[in-house]
Amino acid sequence: MRAFITFEGIEGSGKTTQIQLLSVGLDRAEVEHVLTREPGGTDVGNQIRRLLLDPSNRDLTPLAELLLYQAARAQHLARVIVPALAEEKLVLCDRYKDATRAYQGGGRHLPTELVEQLNRLDLLALEPDLTLLFDIDPAASLARAFRREGSAASPQNRFEQEEMEFHRRVRESYLDLARAHPQRIRLVDAAGSIEEVHQRVIALLKNRFPLLAWS
Ligand code: TYD
Repeated sequence: MRAFITFEGIEGSGKTTQIQLLSVGLDRAEVEHVLTREPGGTDVGNQIRRLLLDPSNRDLTPLAELLLYQAARAQHLARVIVPALAEEKLVLCDRYKDATRAYQGGGRHLPTELVEQLNRLDLLALEPDLTLLFDIDPAASLARAFRREGSAASPQNRFEQEEMEFHRRVRESYLDLARAHPQRIRLVDAAGSIEEVHQRVIALLKNRFPLLAWS
């Protein structure tokens, strides 16, 4: 089935765990799909990802950051997403354009019009069919993210080092997007156990794509 579904949310909202759980269920039901993520999804994209997340790149300007995310996305669209959709495949993507709107727009204060100008360029114009937005208070989700990584073992990435106010702006920006696009973006309450949240995801997907064997 041809569909492009994206998973969004702030750090530690659990979207990555949920997309992986969903993919395992789809594998079990032998539903063909492509699981991918941003930034990344291609060799070039993964090189850009390392650059973007490296905590030593403190000096990266907001505009340079925006262009790097969009560069990784242009490569990802051309090499992975668009070809998979052309083959009528289901594509599940961990973060996509709404992350740019929320982080570089809301978080970094780049003008919406600048972000949207790039969002209209060539393949970058593609919008998902459905976006699941995992919503949670940043105070709870950041505690989760830090527990997951351990304190000293792995250094925080450039975004996890941001102050709470940054993450609040990102969350608000995501919620504004959901209000502006109620058909495309569906909120998932990300508080609760992995299984509880998974059941919320399945319910939403069954509602939107009833013919598919979501488990
Ligand atoms: P990642 O380790 O994948 O974080 P998470 O597990 O929370 O998804 O890092 C991706 C980081 O990049 C994350 O902090 C959000 C940020 N990001 C942007 O700022 N803009 C974007 O367009 C994308 C795709 C991600």
